[in-house]
Amino acid sequence: MSTEGREKGVVGELIARSNRLGSDPRNTNYAGGNASAKGTAADPVTGEDVELLWVKGSGGHLATLTPAGLAALRLDRLRALASVYPGVDREDEMVAGFDYCLHGKEGAAPSIDTAMHGLVGAAHVDHLHPDSGIAIATAVDGEALTKKIFGDTVVWVPWRRPGFQLGLDIAAMKDANPQAIGCILGGHGITAWGDSSAECEGNSLHIIEAAAAYIAGHSRPEPFGPVLDGYAALPDQERRAKAAALAPTLRAIASHDKPMVGHYTDAEAVLDFLAHAEHPRLAKLGTSCPDHFLRTKVKPLVLDLPATASVEDAIARLTELHSAYRAEYQAYYDRNATRDSPAIRGADPLIILVPGVGMFSYGKDKQTARVAGEFYVNAINVMRGAEGLSTYAPIDESEKFRIEYWALEEAKLQRMPKPKPLATRIALVTGAASGIGKAIATRLAAEGACVVVADLDPDKAAAAAAEIGGTDVAVGLAADVTDEAAVRAAVDTTVLTFGGLDLVVNNAGLSLSKPLLETTVADWDLQHNVMAKGSFIVSKAAARVLIEQKLGGDIVYISSKNSIFAGPSNIAYSAAKADQAHQVRLLAAELGEHGVRVNGINPDGVVRGSGIFAGGWGAKRAAVYGVPEEELGAHYAKRTLLKREVLPEHVANAVFALCSADLSHTTGLHIPVDAGVTAAFLR
Ligand SMILES: NC(=O)c1ccc[n+]([C@@H]2O[C@H](COP(=O)([O-])OP(=O)(O)OC[C@H]3O[C@@H](n4cnc5c(N)ncnc54)[C@H](O)[C@@H]3O)[C@@H](O)[C@H]2O)c1
Ligand SMILES: [Zn+2]
Repeated sequence: MSTEGREKGVVGELIARSNRLGSDPRNTNYAGGNASAKGTAADPVTGEDVELLWVKGSGGHLATLTPAGLAALRLDRLRALASVYPGVDREDEMVAGFDYCLHGKEGAAPSIDTAMHGLVGAAHVDHLHPDSGIAIATAVDGEALTKKIFGDTVVWVPWRRPGFQLGLDIAAMKDANPQAIGCILGGHGITAWGDSSAECEGNSLHIIEAAAAYIAGHSRPEPFGPVLDGYAALPDQERRAKAAALAPTLRAIASHDKPMVGHYTDAEAVLDFLAHAEHPRLAKLGTSCPDHFLRTKVKPLVLDLPATASVEDAIARLTELHSAYRAEYQAYYDRNATRDSPAIRGADPLIILVPGVGMFSYGKDKQTARVAGEFYVNAINVMRGAEGLSTYAPIDESEKFRIEYWALEEAKLQRMPKPKPLATRIALVTGAASGIGKAIATRLAAEGACVVVADLDPDKAAAAAAEIGGTDVAVGLAADVTDEAAVRAAVDTTVLTFGGLDLVVNNAGLSLSKPLLETTVADWDLQHNVMAKGSFIVSKAAARVLIEQKLGGDIVYISSKNSIFAGPSNIAYSAAKADQAHQVRLLAAELGEHGVRVNGINPDGVVRGSGIFAGGWGAKRAAVYGVPEEELGAHYAKRTLLKREVLPEHVANAVFALCSADLSHTTGLHIPVDAGVTAAFLR
């Protein structure tokens, strides 16, 4: 086979193995672990064969790894780094050396684990973070357990922060133990190897499964201790209601230093942990695997009240616990920081546990918040395994700190792209399955917000959300704004889905054009129910959350040129729009003290994409003006000062401007988006 063919074969096998291993959560946590293969490829400079290492680069996830996510390094050069290694105190300097080993500039940046993969003398190496393996790795007698479970086929390597020295340690251990198929890395995870990709994968799975089987066969019946009275999971409905009632306060707690997006889970593993006696002691011990600290912080905040405690009592106690948590975190930072440590990154918890209710996890976006929650579930599984066999003993606080505030991690954070303008903000847009609302939801998401698309039809709402992005960005739900219970449920779903609520857009509407004598009471009621009453209901339900969160917020009303302009055949619609317009001023006056800004937009003549125009109104207006319906937008444009057609996107631009930091000192304002209509000038 040609070298190119051989290279493709090696890389193909590595990707397939990585994807298989990564897609089973029992094998490794999200984006945790890495896999590598060594092989030959042609050196484009000399035409000669050179030995290469292909290894998962920094940051990627094994389950979705592609060749572009691999770093390719010259093995001779990588191994030669050992000869200039200045010792463990300066091991971080070796990372810069990886760049001098790269084979071409394609490919991902090498991760900290590159040394381990290069130095270990096996063609194929996996490094994984399986719950079962970490349970052994964090048991106080992990070394003895490793011997008991695996004999001499899997060897114990004491805890050491990942880096060049750990790579040397593992390589030396393998050389001294030629019979070994892998090792348990104290406090951390596992590494396995093989001469072929299949052998390596088999060895990894053997370690993971043997550890899991040993735990299953030897665990004490109640690793988390006896059941705690009053701490059992609340019934479904009650649990969800309490979670929604607490969510705004919990977000305020998590966002004291900087605003966060949240994720809620009532997974069985979490509720079970919180229902048993040992959970306060174990939660305090914190997590162990190095991947955890940036995502979950050293330890969670745990509400120390039973599930049966009232929402009011829970909130009062959480507030006290928050102050204590912040003080403790600051003390942990102060105890461990050195002159070179990066600045403290905020002292709020990233994981909050509420007995009977579940877990709230936080991050800079929904994906980060969700993964933080997944990681804590991993930690619970690890603690259950370790406590079932012996005693959970994670790495020391000072080592945790050395990872959380590692200069290399800090450098990674500094390299992250600047957040988008609406990052961490959570929006609820009513009537967002169509027209202007959909354009608004799309724009807010593009600017970094998480968006809930609410509309009458659940399928249309879901379809619009799916067009905007995955469920970490946008979700659709049914909510008739005239129905107070439905609106409350939509707000609850919003806070349970994304942790809170910041931007509310009252956009749902419809339009009947009739002269006074033809307007029925039912017509009047419909216009007023959807637009005037509907936006009152939505604003009221949302304001409770905005006030409790203490993060300010924005309420934007899509009113209309017709809230100002008086013309014939529009009594019900325009009166309802005028009502909405005055709600803007009334609520701006009332909510200002909470930092909530309330503004409005007066669009006009938005024909394209609008369901209002498509649903017969457009045909009627076109007939009135004597133009074909498809030219109605252009016709409206001719009547404007700017002679421009107004599109849904133009209204969305104005919503973004109102919600952006640039208009932070503006409330009670209406912005016309009508291409200039003199009769609707605000004065
Ligand atoms: N199109 C324009 O020229 C124009 C001008 C000024 C103001 N507006 C206002 O802009 C808003 C959006 O209009 P559009 O042109 O995009 O219309 P559209 O019909 O395309 O969108 C309105 C959406 O609101 C939804 N909706 C209706 N009743 C609802 C209810 N009870 N609960 C929840 N959702 C409901 C509809 O299902 C629809 O998806 C409306 O408030 C409208 O009055 C439109
Ligand atoms: Zn690791």
